[in-house]
Amino acid sequence: FEPPVVVVPKRHVEEEIDDGKKKVTVFFGTQTGTAEGFAKALVEEAKARYEKAVFKVVDLDDYAADDDEYEEKLKKESFAFFFLATYGDGEPTDNAARFYKWFTEGESKGEWLNKLQYGVFGLGNRQYEHFNKIAKVVDDGLAEQGAKCLVPVGLGDDDQCIEDDFTAWKELVWPELDQLLRDEDDTGVATPYTAAVAEYRVVFHDKPDLFSEDNIQTNGHAVHDAQHPCRSNVAVKKELHSPESDRSCTHLEFDISNTGLSYETGDHVGVYCENLSEVVDEAVRLVGLSPDTYFSVHTDKEDGTPLGGASLPPPFPPCTLRKALASYADVLSSPKKSALLALAAHATDPCEADRLKFLASPDGKDEYSQWIVASQRSLLEVMEAFPSAKPPLGVFFASVAPRLQPRYYSISSSPKMAPNRIHVTCALVYEKTPAGRIHKGVCSTWMKNAVPMTESQDCSWAPIYVRTSNFRLPSDPNVPVIMIGPGTGLAPFRGFLQERLALKEAGTELGTSILFFGCRNRKVDFIYEDELNNFVETGALSELIVAFSREGPAKEYVQHKMSEKASDLWKLLSEGAYLYVCGDAKGMAKDVHRTLHTIVQEQGSLDSSKAELYVKNLQMSGRYLRDVW
Ligand code: 2AM
Repeated sequence: FEPPVVVVPKRHVEEEIDDGKKKVTVFFGTQTGTAEGFAKALVEEAKARYEKAVFKVVDLDDYAADDDEYEEKLKKESFAFFFLATYGDGEPTDNAARFYKWFTEGESKGEWLNKLQYGVFGLGNRQYEHFNKIAKVVDDGLAEQGAKCLVPVGLGDDDQCIEDDFTAWKELVWPELDQLLRDEDDTGVATPYTAAVAEYRVVFHDKPDLFSEDNIQTNGHAVHDAQHPCRSNVAVKKELHSPESDRSCTHLEFDISNTGLSYETGDHVGVYCENLSEVVDEAVRLVGLSPDTYFSVHTDKEDGTPLGGASLPPPFPPCTLRKALASYADVLSSPKKSALLALAAHATDPCEADRLKFLASPDGKDEYSQWIVASQRSLLEVMEAFPSAKPPLGVFFASVAPRLQPRYYSISSSPKMAPNRIHVTCALVYEKTPAGRIHKGVCSTWMKNAVPMTESQDCSWAPIYVRTSNFRLPSDPNVPVIMIGPGTGLAPFRGFLQERLALKEAGTELGTSILFFGCRNRKVDFIYEDELNNFVETGALSELIVAFSREGPAKEYVQHKMSEKASDLWKLLSEGAYLYVCGDAKGMAKDVHRTLHTIVQEQGSLDSSKAELYVKNLQMSGRYLRDVW
């Protein structure tokens, strides 16, 4: 007997049949798939435990077409779990944004959810200011609206081991569900559950004669989104640092003419790049099959019925092993514990299998934290250390290597100046890990090595798509703007200034604008210096203020320059200015936030709590916007 799991298809409003079974809905708000994976894992395990209940895994976006439908359907739920990731500046994931807005901003409906019992697990990172904000807000909101909380909100921390947090939270969930979902005729003894290793069905093919991987067209869709990116050529590539720099920052332009792609100033571009060829070579060697192996992966059996067991990510198109390892496998991140178990299941050396299982076990927690997480050991390094663990392809792509995710960049151009190009400003990630490996960032290295159209007809290209953001200039160009963006945080402001220049050239009158930029040294990493000076000369920018952090005896940062300009900033804010911050979230954006608070307090002669309220109001009214990572 296979208890039913229904994955609700897109926008499908189904009529519930009341068969007397208890129904549990497990919602997810996911960006990279982790929250979705946890939701599915919870359901798989719950299925095995509670045979007479029905479980649904639901994408929050697909649950309801509009606010009314959210209300109507949620009212009917009895048991629900929410897996909610928090992103960037305390934001929900794209697929949870509509739900979150409705749930948090709608009119108060009193205790309308009193039929519902629920649990929330959050996915976040403690290094960030708004740690698990979305999960916390939804958890509180559900309780306020009358729902009964079954377990304390789980605060998954990706900075440590989020899988452990999930496991610990699940242990709180089971005793509650035991009471709620067990049937009278059940023995009351929980079925022991061990997660099965998920795998695709793999079909090996003869490689078609005319097959060329470059011919794979990702274009042709009316709408380009994360699932349907658009192939786009690299038109221009330039190094922005001077030759004496020991770092690198690439200016790249994607050609979007005739692609159907369009964007607005302040949007993000998602780039699906490939692993470096040296990384792919290494991965091929460790997987232990020919790079030319041509295969496809499937989530159904040969007769078309779905494979049992855990849910799998959608298959990628048929391709060679080399292409699959280049485009679809994240092999440089540290392996999850579930990946170690999948490797263990296929290790032919029993000592290796035992050690892998230990690392994934509760007893091996400290060693996992040390040897894998703190040392930033990549999946490839781990596979190298366990050479007998050679899982078959169906297991490797389903359970060992997660899917390679797109990387997001704040677009550094404006369509008013560059309608056919998307500009990206990308700092190279190149660092030595504690275990001694040189970690080369997947996408930044790809960009640094890209071959532009200006150099070759056979130029580099990548599937890309545009992700809309709310980082926008005020609609009235007369409203003053304050921009703070050190390093590559300058990117969206270059777009803003291009837009303002275009407006100015068209005869529009512009309000005051100030840009705070920061870099180490004028001669080395003052990126786009000439362009910025030109924005000042043309009047697109009223004032450019640069903090050089490594020129004088003491560090000078953008926030120091802000303090020097405190009275000007206060005046502009009082006139209704918009304030924008872009760049590093963990250090810079936090420090800038504190400085802003101090400026408001001192200049406005407010006490600390009034100053806090002032800054909150700026945020709430959309006049303090942050694009931080
Ligand atoms: P540093 O590398 O000398 O510390 C762009 O990266 C600029 O931001 C650099 O000049 C860098 O200085 C600076 N920076 C580093 N940490 C910062 C922080 N917490 N606040 C503001 N600027 C910072």
